[in-house]
Amino acid sequence: MLNNICSPPFFTAEIFGDGRVFCCCPAYTKIKEIGNIYCQTWDEVWNSDIAREFREKIKKGDYSSCYTNFCDPQFFPLCQELKYVDPEKLDINNPKARIVKLSMDASCNVACTICRSKIRCNQDESRTRFLDSKTDIILETLKDAEIVNFTGSGDPFASKHVRRLIKIINEKYPNIKFNFHTNGTLCDERNLKELGVIDKLSTIEISLHSATKSTYDKIVKYGNWERVNKNLDFLSGLIKQGKLDELQLNFVVFSENFRAIPDFIELCKKYNAKAFLWQYRPLGGIYDFDSVDVTSPLHKNHKEFIQIMTNIDSNNPNLFMSPLFKKYTQIKDVEQYNLFASIIANQIAERYESKHCAFDKRFQALENSVQILLDKVGTSKVDKILLFLKKIFSLKNKYKKIINKEKLLRFWHRN
Ligand SMILES: C[S@@+](CC[C@H](N)C(=O)[O-])C[C@H]1O[C@@H](n2cnc3c(N)ncnc32)[C@H](O)[C@@H]1O
Ligand code: SF4
Ligand code: SF4
Repeated sequence: MLNNICSPPFFTAEIFGDGRVFCCCPAYTKIKEIGNIYCQTWDEVWNSDIAREFREKIKKGDYSSCYTNFCDPQFFPLCQELKYVDPEKLDINNPKARIVKLSMDASCNVACTICRSKIRCNQDESRTRFLDSKTDIILETLKDAEIVNFTGSGDPFASKHVRRLIKIINEKYPNIKFNFHTNGTLCDERNLKELGVIDKLSTIEISLHSATKSTYDKIVKYGNWERVNKNLDFLSGLIKQGKLDELQLNFVVFSENFRAIPDFIELCKKYNAKAFLWQYRPLGGIYDFDSVDVTSPLHKNHKEFIQIMTNIDSNNPNLFMSPLFKKYTQIKDVEQYNLFASIIANQIAERYESKHCAFDKRFQALENSVQILLDKVGTSKVDKILLFLKKIFSLKNKYKKIINKEKLLRFWHRN
């Protein structure tokens, strides 16, 4: 295992509507785009200096270009067998983009409260015409692809552009397989047949964020719980018949739905699906991030959330989750955790002045805090906490003075 490397940068790409291309996943890597298909050839983009430098780093086991609090070499929402492999089995010098995700159109038939405040569905005709006019360029990106994935930006079945493109891809690359990342409302037999992909499915990923109609209706505005479940029944049947390689259900965790996590995991079992618990990110949607982020010790429901996480069987082979969540599931002593959490919450609040801090920095601080808990520090815990706090506070001098052992101890005993 030690000599293995994280393989996605060697064979996965994601492309945005403005032409930018990302190696691996744009949400998990710090590197900016590796190129742009509207002003470079596909070969220039895929083997650009930025792309090659990133792969070189990964080859050496250097993950400093990754947001490892969201994604680490043990976690990637992609076929796990392909994820962490012996470099001998990879074409490192001349890699091919074998899985290409096209996230070019934001059109979607629903409006999830975590993603957008209103429906945006094929309203901008000039945008659709623009994307259609780029068809030849897009097709070129798929020349080595075994799988094309729609979509990280909207819903594949709701987008006129994507529907047209799927049919064109089918003609040009008859052996290519399809992954769909969708809200599931339109992912039914009729649509899959109409698009000509029913016998060419690889993975279908459906974002549910719930286990009951009432929670679903609160989050997926204009969705249809009954229809999604009917479609899941159908897709689960395809899994049993071997006509679909993998079914995944996604759940972005926040204050509106965290209590449904255990039921969601059960629901995934019912549908022969893998369960994915994702960390909420302030990407859009209708919420103030701090008011819904239960992963933070600052949140009023944090303790309840931790209690739920500690009761989850993290050894379930069909359950995948963000690295921070995994750590939460490993907390053995919830009372001890709560003691630490209250101190850490206070300090993080002061250090980052809550919502004005870059969210990845705050997540990093949280991750570190949980690591301290997991270290089971016993009697030396105050010293270790102190060290940790000094580390996260070292960026700002003005906070250094509030970190002293006496003050911390007083705080500790008061709580
Ligand atoms: C933008 S959607 C596009 C694909 C499809 N429409 C869907 O919802 O699955 C891509 C993924 O982002 C997730 N997502 C949306 N808003 C998010 C947020 N604020 N934080 C984290 N993930 C989010 C969705 O749940 C989905 O799994
Ligand atoms: S750790 Fe995550 S972001 Fe980094 S290369 Fe691996 S899969 Fe990509
Ligand atoms: S998360 Fe997906 S389904 Fe929900 S509004 Fe965004 S694009 Fe549509």
